[in-house]
Amino acid sequence: MQSLQEKASEWSGVDSADAFAIDNTNLFQKLGLQTFINLSTNFYNRVYDDEEEEWFRSIFVNSKKEEAIQNQYEFFVQRMGGPPLYSQRKGHPALIGRHRPFPVTHQAAERWLYHMEKALDSTPDIDEDSKIKMKNFFRHEFHQITSLPILIKPILNSITVLIVYFASR
Ligand code: HEM
Repeated sequence: MQSLQEKASEWSGVDSADAFAIDNTNLFQKLGLQTFINLSTNFYNRVYDDEEEEWFRSIFVNSKKEEAIQNQYEFFVQRMGGPPLYSQRKGHPALIGRHRPFPVTHQAAERWLYHMEKALDSTPDIDEDSKIKMKNFFRHEFHQITSLPILIKPILNSITVLIVYFASR
C-alpha cells in the first residue's frame, strides 16, 4: 500500500523533494517573524471576508480570527526554521487530528490554497524563491490532510464487511 506521503505527492503533483525544499533554507531567518504574522493576517482576512464562497467562510465560524492567525503563524514559524512557538503553547501540531472536526474536503482544500497563494502574493518581502517553496509545501501538505480519510475508507469498509459476516453466522 502507498504511504500517505506518496499518495500526497501523486495527488498534489508535487514530489517530496519539492515539497520539502522548505527545509533546504531557513525561511524563518530569511523572512523574519513579522513577515509570517503578515502572511497569516492576510490569509485570514481573506478567509473571513470570503463572500464569494460562503460555505468556505462558514468552516471557520467557530474560530476567533485573532486566535486562528496566531495558531497559523506560530506553526509556520516553527515548521520553517524558527523557535517552536506553536508546540510550546499548544503541544504537538498533529495537523490531521486537529483538522478532524472540519469538513476538509478537496473543494475546501482548493479554496484554502487559493487564498494562501493570494496572501503569499500580496505580502511584502517574500521573494519569489521562498514563495515557490511555500506554495509547493502547502499544496503537498493539504493533500496529506485530506487524503487520510480517503485512504482509510477501504479499511473501514473491510472491517464493516467482516463484522457483518461474523455477526450473521
Ligand atoms: C485543506 C484545507 C484546510 C482547511 C479547510 C483548514 C481549516 C482549518 C480550520 C477551520 C482551522 C481552525 C482555525 C483555528 O482556530 O486555528 C484550522 C486550523 C489550523 N490549520 Fe488548517 N485548514 C486547511 C489546511 C491547512 C494546511 C495546509 C495547513 C498547514 C500547512 C494548516 C494548518 C493549520 C494549523 C496550524 C491550525 C491550527 C490548529 C490548532 O491549533 O487547533 N491547515 N484549519
